[in-house]
Amino acid sequence: MNLSELTLDREGLAAAIACEDAAFNEALSEEAYRVKVATIGPEVYLRGLIEISNICVKNCLYCGIRRDIRCPRYELSEEEVLATAKIAAGRHFGSVVIQGGERTDPAFIRKITRLIKAIKAIEPSTEGEPPLGITLSLGEQSREVYEEWFDAGAHRYLLRIESSNPDLYRKIHPDDSLHSYDRRIKALYDLKEIGYQAGTGAMIGLPFQSAEDMADDLMFYKEFDAPMIGMGPYNPHPQTPLTLAGAPYPSEKRRFALGLKMIALLRLLMPDINIASATSLEVLDPRGRELGILSGANVIMPNMTPEDKMVNYNLYDRKTLLRDSHSSLVEELESKKIAIGYGQWGDSRHFRKCPDPF
Ligand code: 5AD
Ligand code: SF4
Repeated sequence: MNLSELTLDREGLAAAIACEDAAFNEALSEEAYRVKVATIGPEVYLRGLIEISNICVKNCLYCGIRRDIRCPRYELSEEEVLATAKIAAGRHFGSVVIQGGERTDPAFIRKITRLIKAIKAIEPSTEGEPPLGITLSLGEQSREVYEEWFDAGAHRYLLRIESSNPDLYRKIHPDDSLHSYDRRIKALYDLKEIGYQAGTGAMIGLPFQSAEDMADDLMFYKEFDAPMIGMGPYNPHPQTPLTLAGAPYPSEKRRFALGLKMIALLRLLMPDINIASATSLEVLDPRGRELGILSGANVIMPNMTPEDKMVNYNLYDRKTLLRDSHSSLVEELESKKIAIGYGQWGDSRHFRKCPDPF
């Protein structure tokens, strides 16, 4: 396939996804990077990732911290989260992401509300810098809870659709009301209506997933008009039902290539949104996130979870072997002449362009 033959409709996207020609993939990445720089500039924004807890009420069939997996569970204290957020502020990251397993108990919800307010109150380390921006990634919650957290000061929320195909969604989740595709969609629209920058995304290279499914994921992002997307390769975890069932999935090399390709295609489809270069790329290739940036992504989330806890946030195989060295990541980017947007929220241009919902 030739880049000039690419069309950004379902069929064209599926053909590009299925194409395994290395020259095509490379040309696609280069074009996406060019479009990114021309549309939103060369900067990469950092979000300090704080994995607050690996306790989860859900049982997704692919996830290494699902409810039924026996593993040491942890929850960071408010002091630990605040101390980590202060490190992020000191490094001028501009934003933090608070991510964790899904929990809906009132104690947890109130704790998050207090933390959002406390993080917002951290003095910026340089005059003129805004207070830290806060992205939440804490799963499905009631509309009231989303409102409470928004009012406390969070302004972005990541809730992956995991797969936009309801049949595939059903195959990778238990069949019960806690894991309902419709509820997930409703949560995404709640977030958007409340005024969050509502990000979503899906896993790439799942068992049972076709090129058309992946093309539909891209079309879903466009249809939802997502201001930010975080998507990454599926990496099996040895103890999950999905792995143990033995369903085939693409090779490591192929999943990595697909991960980069989905970023590149999305950049062409939605030139001014924020696209994260996912940690799951880095597990498959030591330069994974850098190559994600060179394929059109513009956000990186360095993991700032304290190391003794990070080892238990084991979503998939080898994730915990990653040790995020902020300085080596920055060095890597700077050696490629990729500028980092320090001290800014790095909001999606796309969102700012949208009409004010209020
Ligand atoms: N491989 C890749 N990503 C995974 N996630 C969970 N399990 C896996 C896995 N095995 C992702 C999901 C979830 C995010 C927190 O981690 O997409 O939304
Ligand atoms: Fe819980 Fe998220 Fe893992 Fe599902 S993917 S089991 S909601 S942490």
